[in-house]
Amino acid sequence: MRLEGRSALITGAARGIGRAFAEAYLREGATVTIGDVNIDAARATAEEIGAHAVHLDVTEQSSIEAAVGETVAETGGIDILVNNAALFDMAPIVEITRESYDRLFAVNVSGTLFTLQAVARHMVDRGKGGKIINMASQAGRRGEGLVAVYCATKAAVISLTQSAGLNLIRHGINVNAIAPGVVEGEHWDHVDALFARHEGLQPGEKKRQVGDAVPYGRMGRAEDLTGMAIFLATPEADYIVAQTFNVDGGQWMS
Ligand SMILES: NC(=O)c1ccc[n+]([C@@H]2O[C@H](COP(=O)([O-])OP(=O)(O)OC[C@H]3O[C@@H](n4cnc5c(N)ncnc54)[C@H](O)[C@@H]3O)[C@@H](O)[C@H]2O)c1
Repeated sequence: MRLEGRSALITGAARGIGRAFAEAYLREGATVTIGDVNIDAARATAEEIGAHAVHLDVTEQSSIEAAVGETVAETGGIDILVNNAALFDMAPIVEITRESYDRLFAVNVSGTLFTLQAVARHMVDRGKGGKIINMASQAGRRGEGLVAVYCATKAAVISLTQSAGLNLIRHGINVNAIAPGVVEGEHWDHVDALFARHEGLQPGEKKRQVGDAVPYGRMGRAEDLTGMAIFLATPEADYIVAQTFNVDGGQWMS
């Protein structure tokens, strides 16, 4: 019960890694609100696991403010924010479209910054500090030939984590990030399908390749990340500021 009495807002937690974080935080005694643009899926997940659900489109300022306001009204305040919502796309440089670029930056970068800002304003006003955890990626550590835009968005998340971490620690707000490697789930099913199209691979082949390349010996599972997500939300992590932690089975060292 390391998070007893804490209230957490997790974006994009209707499924995947965010959902696993929601379940882990609930097991640790927290009150959890799932903020997702897919409100039907968010409600279904919330009902299944015992969380709250709010509609949240992180690309819309009014939606961010409404979701933060609703979460505060419903749960009495926000102690923990996990900025987890993100989109993935890929294309060779000569085929990247402005639409894809704008969509990924709107969700992964603007969405992360302005949700962080809205929750940080609440935390500063409340005067009780807080924990903000951004979802980066090993993709933010280096470029990939076919994944330029997503990689750039995740590099931006690592940079924003550093600046926000430095700026907000004076208010007792820790901002840190987690950089997963390759994690099983619907996200990677979509990635696999895109690689199949761009590299002429059989369905499932890219997943096998990336899993074999992980030093640990397999792709990650959402549950592999929950330990770090819990730890960063506890007082044990109070002295950790502006860092991005690789939780990737040994793929990246920094
Ligand atoms: N799965 C991986 O291999 C992997 C690897 C590295 C990093 N990550 C990162 O971890 C996080 C979670 O990944 P996942 O695999 O669970 O993703 P996912 O695609 O399974 O889930 C993303 C969730 O975000 C929601 N979402 C999308 N747009 C939104 C918006 N505008 N506003 C609010 N919610 C929105 C979706 O409805 C969905 O529920 C992401 O930030 C992702 O980039 C994932």
